[in-house]
Amino acid sequence: MLKEMRIGWNPSSLHKRHHVFVKVAVSFLLLGLACRLFFSDSIKFSSSSPVVETDTVTESPSLSTSSSLPVQVPSSGDLLANDSRPFPNAECDLFTGDWVPDPSALAYTNASCHAIEDHQNCMRNGRPDSGYLYWRWNPRDCELPRFDPEKFLDFMRNKSWAFIGDSISRNHVQSLLCILSQVEQAVEVYHDEEYRSKRWHFPSHNFTLSVVWTPFLLKADIFEDINGVSSSEIQLHLDKLDETWTKQYRNFDYAVIGGGKWFLKTAIYHENNTVAGCHYCPGKNLTELGFDYAYRKALKSVLNFTLNYGRKAFIFLRTTTPDHFENGEWFSGGTCNRTAPFKEGEVDMKDVDAVMRDIELEEFEKAASIRAENGVILKLLDTTRLSLLRPDGHPGPYRQFETFAKDKNAKVQNDCLHWCLPGPIDSWNDLLMEIINRGTH
Ligand SMILES: *[C@@H]1O[C@H](CO)[C@@H](O)[C@H](O)[C@H]1NC(C)=O
Ligand SMILES: *[C@@H]1O[C@H](CO)[C@@H](O)[C@H](O)[C@H]1NC(C)=O
Ligand SMILES: *[C@@H]1O[C@H](CO)[C@@H](O)[C@H](O)[C@H]1NC(C)=O
Ligand SMILES: *[C@@H]1O[C@H](CO)[C@@H](O)[C@H](O)[C@H]1NC(C)=O
Ligand SMILES: *[C@@H]1O[C@H](CO)[C@@H](O)[C@H](O)[C@H]1NC(C)=O
Ligand SMILES: *[C@@H]1O[C@H](CO)[C@@H](O)[C@H](O)[C@H]1NC(C)=O
Ligand SMILES: *[C@@H]1O[C@H](CO)[C@@H](O)[C@H](O)[C@H]1NC(C)=O
Ligand SMILES: *[C@@H]1O[C@H](CO)[C@@H](O)[C@H](O)[C@H]1NC(C)=O
Repeated sequence: MLKEMRIGWNPSSLHKRHHVFVKVAVSFLLLGLACRLFFSDSIKFSSSSPVVETDTVTESPSLSTSSSLPVQVPSSGDLLANDSRPFPNAECDLFTGDWVPDPSALAYTNASCHAIEDHQNCMRNGRPDSGYLYWRWNPRDCELPRFDPEKFLDFMRNKSWAFIGDSISRNHVQSLLCILSQVEQAVEVYHDEEYRSKRWHFPSHNFTLSVVWTPFLLKADIFEDINGVSSSEIQLHLDKLDETWTKQYRNFDYAVIGGGKWFLKTAIYHENNTVAGCHYCPGKNLTELGFDYAYRKALKSVLNFTLNYGRKAFIFLRTTTPDHFENGEWFSGGTCNRTAPFKEGEVDMKDVDAVMRDIELEEFEKAASIRAENGVILKLLDTTRLSLLRPDGHPGPYRQFETFAKDKNAKVQNDCLHWCLPGPIDSWNDLLMEIINRGTH
């Protein structure tokens, strides 16, 4: 299984790691504040920021919509043919496949779902093309059923589910809320002061859904103001988990845990109550340990915690999410104006993502090989490669309402990391549901 999932990219070598570090270091040296756009919660970005001055968008993309869709839509009869696929459904690798056109109605829109955050509400914000909405993830060797919100909610009666991580986890929970809103509207029952962690209840199903903001999963002292401007280095405690999520953990029957991107930031690493080193802290006379060192420690203790906590939970480890900045990075005018998916082989995973996913797969395998005698179910939600094929699924310049309404040449920061809603991230929920179905057979 592990071998299959690795097809298409090379495990990173030491040389590569070094290379990654250099790239990342340079980025952060040049950048400073700009990372607030993607990593901070309070995504407020001034259009006068120097970061956007080299933005390369010169005109509003006016690309065709449904007319660009290929017309060969496989019939469901083909997909369900019972003898043409080498693996029966329960065995097949869900994460290897292609995106296929799917003109069927959307599960929700900006009008039917009110949970969509402004910055990911591409329809409302005026994104002109809509072809990106009509694709379905099709695993090579089996059929992936569409998420069935009715069945899901019935199954989740009296249960509690959490998404634990950074802003991608929030992106993901909003997708799930929107899909479920076809059956029942959630009632928000809790939010923290900054609206980063939230909890909802579905009264007719007594189902509780949470998103828990813990960008490192570890205990971290973060000195960022409301605009994400950092006044001091992050102090990251590599041997302490963040109590924001561990304190609530006993309440969760299901959890999707994911992270990664925050580990690229400058941080001072603590272990055993002493400073052990850092990631990218020039002038500090500390040992550079590399983000991969910290990320591996984090995943090790997260997985160890879930396996030993003594709660029979169903845990997903979600792999890192790729970005699609082209012609620049997120701080140097990178854009993502493609309007259709890539095919397998048309795109390579960025080095940083390859290193992260490598660590995720290795630590997952180690944890999964420890027999969970306590009934913990640990699954990999390996969305990295299938998401990599969707450069068309990001807000790009449409992270604000009517970006180009006043000035069609407006220069704006692009978001090529988070996902439009509706959008490709909805398929992550199809995968969750299928894995749960299999896990409970
Ligand atoms: C996409 O953006 C690039 C610059 O980043 C530009 O050269 C290209 O023409 C754009 N394509 C479309 C279809 O707008
Ligand atoms: C499966 O295939 C066999 C022959 O290959 C056929 O007789 C049977 O009807 C098929 N079953 C379904 C559910 O399509
Ligand atoms: C949804 O987006 C469309 C444009 O695609 C817009 O006309 C409409 O006002 C939006 N609805 C809401 C409720 O935001
Ligand atoms: C849910 O909880 C209620 C009250 O405790 C109980 O009556 C009901 O049988 C439970 N339903 C399921 C599916 O567990
Ligand atoms: C709702 O579910 C919780 C468990 O998550 C259970 O303790 C409670 O009794 C349920 N309430 C009702 C009204 O079913
Ligand atoms: C932490 O301290 C203990 C006792 O001093 C030592 O055995 C251990 O190796 C230390 N761990 C790290 C990671 O430094
Ligand atoms: C850097 O740290 C080392 C060991 O901790 C110390 O010997 C050295 O003097 C320090 N250099 C500077 C410039 O502070
Ligand atoms: C794993 O978790 C157990 C129980 O919480 C703890 O005693 C142990 O020290 C942990 N091991 C590691 C390597 O973190």
